Amino acid sequence: MSYKDMDDNVIVMKNITKIFGKNKVLDGVNFELKRGEIHALLGENGAGKTTLMNILYGLHSPSGGEIYINSKKYTSMRPKLAVENGIGMVHQHFMLIEPFTVLQNIILGTEDIKGIFIDLETSRKKITKIIEKYGFNIDLDAKIQDITVGLQQKVEILKALYKGANVIIFDEPTAVLTPQEITEFIKICNNLKQEGKSIIVITHKLEEIKKMADFCTIIRRGKFIDKITVSLSSEKELAEKMVGREVNFKVNKKEIKLGDTVLDIQDINVLDNRNLPILNNFSLSVKKGEIVGIAGVDGNGQSQLIEAITGLRKVESGKIFLLGKEITNKSVHEIIESGISTIPEDRHKRGLVLDFSVSENMILEKRSKHPFSKNGIFNFKNINDYTQSMIEKFDIRPKDFNAKARDLSGGNQQKIILAREIDNNPDLLIAAQPTRGLDVGAIEIIHKYIVEQRDKGKAVLLISFELDEVMDLSDRIAVIYKGKIVGQKNANEADENELGLMMAGGTSINE
Ligand SMILES: Nc1ncnc2c1ncn2[C@@H]1O[C@H](COP(=O)(O)OP(=O)(O)OP(=O)(O)O)[C@@H](O)[C@H]1O
Ligand SMILES: [Mg+2]
Repeated sequence: MSYKDMDDNVIVMKNITKIFGKNKVLDGVNFELKRGEIHALLGENGAGKTTLMNILYGLHSPSGGEIYINSKKYTSMRPKLAVENGIGMVHQHFMLIEPFTVLQNIILGTEDIKGIFIDLETSRKKITKIIEKYGFNIDLDAKIQDITVGLQQKVEILKALYKGANVIIFDEPTAVLTPQEITEFIKICNNLKQEGKSIIVITHKLEEIKKMADFCTIIRRGKFIDKITVSLSSEKELAEKMVGREVNFKVNKKEIKLGDTVLDIQDINVLDNRNLPILNNFSLSVKKGEIVGIAGVDGNGQSQLIEAITGLRKVESGKIFLLGKEITNKSVHEIIESGISTIPEDRHKRGLVLDFSVSENMILEKRSKHPFSKNGIFNFKNINDYTQSMIEKFDIRPKDFNAKARDLSGGNQQKIILAREIDNNPDLLIAAQPTRGLDVGAIEIIHKYIVEQRDKGKAVLLISFELDEVMDLSDRIAVIYKGKIVGQKNANEADENELGLMMAGGTSINE
């Protein structure tokens, strides 16, 4: 008998409620998981997905409802008890210790640490067995700080398996992965499934749900909506159940009206953190009224390009101009003042002060300016009115300018940064991975306002690993490979296969 035939639920969550302060963020949610199934959890930003899974893992206690693990009833969980019950969780922000090795990170916090003595060899054997069984490809002695995000995620999976997990919860596992890493991640999940493990995966990417999940539970604004058999449903149906309205996947754009050159990058050379060349005689220009999208596989110089433009990384040679004025190696502050706004790639390090309110975060860079302050005194009415209007425009939830950024869901935190940077009305908007972690409804809104900037005659530089997004949003696509632009195409003439080939270092074309 295969695992599929066994009709046993490993996990049942019944009528789960969670109240934070005055907010009921979960209201009667049901969730069922069987052995050997991959189960997606879908819902808009702020719907309560992370909260529900934190309850299952014991990080929050529910305000009401019941949890059954292997038919045993619990009214609340603790992480230690969850682990003893075979539940593992891989958070979106990995909880690894950078200077430690893979091996050290895996065994940290487990019973193999006896006092200060760690039986490394026994652990190494045990872990090697797991690695072989599931076909991981990882060096146990590499340091976390030296390995890619994709590998770090594998360390998190190994950590869970090493502790004996039969159920692994992933909170947006693919948001930070490249397409290649995503394919590998899906393969690993299928291997785990074959061994009878159960997987819960929170994701906003409907395509992934179709590819990997057996079932999908949908929640909307804290309420259980439906449990769907994925093979019997379409992406469109999933999206509409999730947002409760029709979703428009296509970006609506007017004819392009090109103006003067805004950003002009001429032959720049830039080094990476190890002092090796990463941008090599890189040139690119963006005009008023156009969105130029950079397509490329992660690690080909995209991050360093943004850093070089925004003054965070030294330009060794070559020049960068904004509206004809040279800004090469100017200070970050001077560059912002000269008219560049950036939606940063790493929004946790740069972007939000988590202990500040939504209002404070919304005016972070313009707090000393009219109409937000005068003679050093803040005008709170103007600040809050402005924030409230941004909350409405960008659909930030909850609609509360006093809420602490920390208490917002991941996607709603992103929306604060997006709203702030887009509304700066810069001459040049740099948008790095602008819709990472957003639900399809929110993506629609963000795309609309990025296009609005372009229609106002602003220049937009888009960097995204999602080829679909680059193709939908851009007017012109430039492919980056090994620190150089290897080809450019007008978006309406671009072909996905051709772009893919160039991104992999294949033939280069030029208009
Ligand atoms: N510690 C907290 N205090 C107060 N409110 C909270 C707290 N944690 C979460 N919330 C609220 O609970 C709601 C659900 O948040 P949750 O993080 O579960 O959403 P999510 O579905 O994971 O969204 P996303 O897709 O954006 O990650 C949100 O409105 C959020 O603001
Ligand atoms: Mg979340």
